[in-house]
Amino acid sequence: MNLQSLFRRKKLSDIETENSKNFQLHKVLGVRDLTFLGVAAIVGAGIFSTIGRAAYEGGPAVSLLFILVATACIFTALCYAQFASMIPISGSAYTYTYISLGEIFAWVIGWALLLEYAVSNMVVAIAWSEYFTTMLSGFGIHWPDWLGIDYSSAKEAYNQIQSGTFKNSIPDTVAKAAYTYSNAPQIGGIKILFDLPAGLITLFITFIVYIGIKESKNLGNWLVILKLGVIILVIIAGSFFIKPENWSPFLPNGLGGVMGGVAAVFFAFIGFDSISTTAEEAKNPQRDLPKAMIFCLIICALLYVILSLVLTGMVNYKELRVDDPLAYVFGKVGMDFIAGIISISAVISITSTLLVYQIGQPRIWMSMSRDGLLGNKFSSINKKYKTPGFATILTGILVGIPSMFLDMQFVVDLTSVGTFFAFILVCSGTLYLENKGETNKARFKIPYINSQYITGICFIICITLFITQTEYMKIIYEKPLLFIFALVWFGLSIASLKYKFSLIPILGILFNLYLMTELGWSNWIMFIIWLLMGLIIYFIYGYNKSKLNPKNQIKTH
Ligand code: ALA
Repeated sequence: MNLQSLFRRKKLSDIETENSKNFQLHKVLGVRDLTFLGVAAIVGAGIFSTIGRAAYEGGPAVSLLFILVATACIFTALCYAQFASMIPISGSAYTYTYISLGEIFAWVIGWALLLEYAVSNMVVAIAWSEYFTTMLSGFGIHWPDWLGIDYSSAKEAYNQIQSGTFKNSIPDTVAKAAYTYSNAPQIGGIKILFDLPAGLITLFITFIVYIGIKESKNLGNWLVILKLGVIILVIIAGSFFIKPENWSPFLPNGLGGVMGGVAAVFFAFIGFDSISTTAEEAKNPQRDLPKAMIFCLIICALLYVILSLVLTGMVNYKELRVDDPLAYVFGKVGMDFIAGIISISAVISITSTLLVYQIGQPRIWMSMSRDGLLGNKFSSINKKYKTPGFATILTGILVGIPSMFLDMQFVVDLTSVGTFFAFILVCSGTLYLENKGETNKARFKIPYINSQYITGICFIICITLFITQTEYMKIIYEKPLLFIFALVWFGLSIASLKYKFSLIPILGILFNLYLMTELGWSNWIMFIIWLLMGLIIYFIYGYNKSKLNPKNQIKTH
């Protein structure tokens, strides 16, 4: 093995030939359809569910976090957009990286996308379950509590109460989870608790994807209108119940509390990149994909910021530690009817998000398998249904089983850390290609702002402020990852001096990396273990079997 072969790059012309052999898709999607597709993928468990915990940690100021995270996503989306306009073919970040940074990075991205698609869908399934059981109780049906919660959340709640973590008031959800734990049935002394609806909905969606029922374009558009409609309903109806005193204090737990919600808030934005997987079905991908990505991000960012202000204005932020906050707040102000409408709409909306990612994951595996990086089985097509049968079933198992047993927070963290990493690689790929002058053929060019001096000057200003204005030793002690961030920023400052990099991808890398440092060591370690597992698989399998490996090319000719 030589080092260079790890960076072998796929040729754009080869991909075009392969694709023309594999499928001829109808080119029907315009800017509006693409924007709608983006909103369909973005709006899901994040805004319907994880926002509750972020608001509980950060208070009303969580709305500012939405702005910060949206900014990082917009820088990243611009990089995606430039790639999409250069390489208007499906495959998303995986394909872009194969063409720009080379095979090992492509594998790493494909491996990280597993977190963005499959692991994130576990969160979506868990959130679905929460709204589903709330909806059932609206109809007077009580779903057994021990069949609607994972073991570790219930046990943690029980332990928190036992150890007196909550001095003044115990949040309803914690009390309920602890009660469920105490009263759960036991087998051989082991408490039985799992989230059955999360597993069942994944099973159902896997079946639908397997037999190849795709959302038609029209149905998809209706679902998006429903999603946006619910959010707008919450904003308008909720604004009548805002009590401004709930916004004070605005930052109850300081900046640390707000940043504690990074993973949950970022989760709510994940998905805009999935538009790039539809490049071959777009009428004019080079012009429309960039526009659609930016439009859908701006629409979601605006709605999210307003929605977070409304939620934290309606009830005290401490009450928002629930997994169905949008319905919960209306129940709390005595508007059960609206809470009911929201629960039903949320169940439908979240189902459609589940579908998007459950369709997406097998298709990424399919691309990787066609390149030889995964076994042939991953791209085998079911003769009857014409879908990637094996990959679809495997996705169903991988998502469905853990979703019944894992704690939502754990899965949100894992998804976010992996997706930040993928975004950083896409921004780095953009820098690399720019520097090699290979972005000239892009129809959409990121506006070039010379970062030669700006990166370094900003670095010096921030370091100076950090050292003179803060208790920096204490902060570094608490957040040693900031050191890595500073080191990367320093490195980019030097490289910018030399290569006159474009500023926007640099900002993309720095914003994403900073937010990633806020996820804390335990998440980084989890991710590093994940990455190492991926690299082991690559060296044992993908490296040898890759179609770009000269051994395999000789065989096929
Ligand atoms: N952004 C997607 C969601 O919130 C992952 O469900």
